Amino acid sequence: MDDLKAKYLAQIADAADEAALEAIRVAAVGKKGEISLKMRELGRMTPEERKVAGPALNALKDEINAALAARKAALADAALEERLRSEWLDVTLPARPRRQGTIHPVSQVTEEVTAIFAEMGFSVAEGPRIETDWYNFDALNIPGHHPARAEMDTFYMYRAPGDDRPPHVLRTHTSPVQIRAMEAQGAPLRVICPGGVYRADYDQTHTPMFHQVEGLALDRDISMANLKWVLEEFVKAFFEVDDVELRFRASHFPFTEPSAEVDIRCSWEGGTLKVGEGDDWLEILGSGMVHPKVIAAGGIDPEVYQGFAFGIGIDRLAMLKYGIPDLRAFFDSDLRWLRHYGFAALDVPTLRGGLSR
Ligand code: DAH
Repeated sequence: MDDLKAKYLAQIADAADEAALEAIRVAAVGKKGEISLKMRELGRMTPEERKVAGPALNALKDEINAALAARKAALADAALEERLRSEWLDVTLPARPRRQGTIHPVSQVTEEVTAIFAEMGFSVAEGPRIETDWYNFDALNIPGHHPARAEMDTFYMYRAPGDDRPPHVLRTHTSPVQIRAMEAQGAPLRVICPGGVYRADYDQTHTPMFHQVEGLALDRDISMANLKWVLEEFVKAFFEVDDVELRFRASHFPFTEPSAEVDIRCSWEGGTLKVGEGDDWLEILGSGMVHPKVIAAGGIDPEVYQGFAFGIGIDRLAMLKYGIPDLRAFFDSDLRWLRHYGFAALDVPTLRGGLSR
């Protein structure tokens, strides 16, 4: 018995892993293990022999089981120790200079626009992309029969026959977020609302999903002059030019009265766009004084508050500023395109540090 004990304890001490331990367990104390077989021999012994051998065999079995358990625990500790050692990471190291991913131009421009308007006291408001037709149309003074509904090439969500809840749409513009912001925050109010919008349209300058940023400023004494100043400041900051000439063209939107489309002076010399000089005009946004019905739909008294709103195409801004010719490529997820037009992840746009560098 002393030989058995010495043999198995030595094997257990040498076992390199759990599989080796398990093999030793089977060989020693498993059903057909050496010690289990010895225990079966107890029946053939004289009572005197059994009195000595029985407790001794039991004690040996216990000792081996205990040694197995202790070795197993030690192996697990060592494995954990090894993992902690090899997976150690210095979180204070700077990021690697070789950039792996890039920031998409839509995200970049959204950040730039947000930084510029933040400086003028506008915070960011968001709303759902799946919208009720009340928020997307009615609340914005676009009733059911209004031609704007048809013009917007709306995607309607499927409703099962007999389901007569009001329809949901994929929002066709970010203007419904005006209503949600008014409801949530009341007046006075200064928000921009960037986000994805949807229309059934597809060519070089249209994709079924694209991005807009809506702006809304409400207070007791806001005029078209404030709108003009804010947009001029925005365009100068965004295109990173000192001076820019804007042209306000009378237009019509159901949600503003009066309404204006805004063009910037530019040149297309040599096929590249230069903002702020030249003889061409480029339309960049729609805007106006918010219609009293829209203010009322947002739960605010239009007799007390008035304000301006505008809507700009983010993808369009990105194409213009960064000279990207085809909108469809924005959403192809082509890595080569993303590497070429993408921005470094750690260059967060700020007015002081630079928008695009
Ligand atoms: N919602 C308009 C569109 O998608 C853009 C727009 C025009 C928004 C005028 C406005 C605005 O807030 O005042 O074409």
